[in-house]
Amino acid sequence: MIKRPVVFVTRPLPQAALKAISKYATVRLRKTDSIIPRAELLAGAKQCDILLPILTDKIDDALLAQTPRLKLIANYGAGYNNVDVESATRRGIPVTNTPDVLTETTAELAVALMLAVSRRLVETDKVMRAGNYPGWGPLMYLGHGISGKTLGVIGMGRIGTRVAEIAHHGFGMHVLYYTKHKEREVELSLGARKVGLSTLLRKADVVTLHVPLIPQTKHLISRKQLALMKPSAYLINTSRGPVVDEAALVQALTKRRIAGAGLDVYEHEPAMAPGLAKLSNAVLLPHIGSATIDTRTAMAMVAAKNIIAFIQRRSLPNCVNPPRLVRSA
Ligand code: DGY
Repeated sequence: MIKRPVVFVTRPLPQAALKAISKYATVRLRKTDSIIPRAELLAGAKQCDILLPILTDKIDDALLAQTPRLKLIANYGAGYNNVDVESATRRGIPVTNTPDVLTETTAELAVALMLAVSRRLVETDKVMRAGNYPGWGPLMYLGHGISGKTLGVIGMGRIGTRVAEIAHHGFGMHVLYYTKHKEREVELSLGARKVGLSTLLRKADVVTLHVPLIPQTKHLISRKQLALMKPSAYLINTSRGPVVDEAALVQALTKRRIAGAGLDVYEHEPAMAPGLAKLSNAVLLPHIGSATIDTRTAMAMVAAKNIIAFIQRRSLPNCVNPPRLVRSA
């Protein structure tokens, strides 16, 4: 690694992190707070040693083929499906992410979505603002509560586990989960039960998604899976949009095949499937799972620490490539 590497940061980040990185490297910051056009991303990536991209920046094989100078991709985010890790690994480029620091914040938002959609918060807020509240009535604005009900967690990683804990301890929810491996800890502490996907979908009152986006999880929830859910059940997605077949979801919500959905992510983000925005039984958020000042700052600091460790040739924290990466700093 050259003495003072160039770090290209594709989007404005909390200052503290930029300051930390600039002690060890020359920071080239793209100051515009909008999605970077591909040509600009490529030009920036070509001229840097270290790239600090965000989840909307596609770091694919075609881009990596043109950036021989690149030595590290320090992705801002826990998810890194925007980076072709296989291609990076082949080229000896480590990829890091920023996990852990956003677990609580994202879990909070999943729980907020559960409550918002099941108690119709957004829909009824609109009623009030429009001056359309005719006065209290026993049959008005009824939802399905979540206390004592069954939560189905798909993907029992850090965030899934935290959602399960809050739901179990806070709302007395019974927890079913679907994941590759048995998670002893959540079974012991929450009485959670590992089940097959179909069983989970049939039994859960709330289904919450916490899987990474990989080829095997694309459209994990599609028409067939939605058809298994109870008509009174809710689907929550704070993971990645393409895990859900959004057109199939719009159909299921329109026909009231399921009671509602709380979404923070979209299949073709930032666009939404036709018809979704019109549905009153969907709560729709603009990917704010980790959006608190503290968490976004903490994520930036983790990215900075990853970069500094790399520059100082220390062992690389949060490296997501398979073990035995080819080239070192
Ligand atoms: C992540 O880090 O993967 C999140 O989606 C950002 O909130």
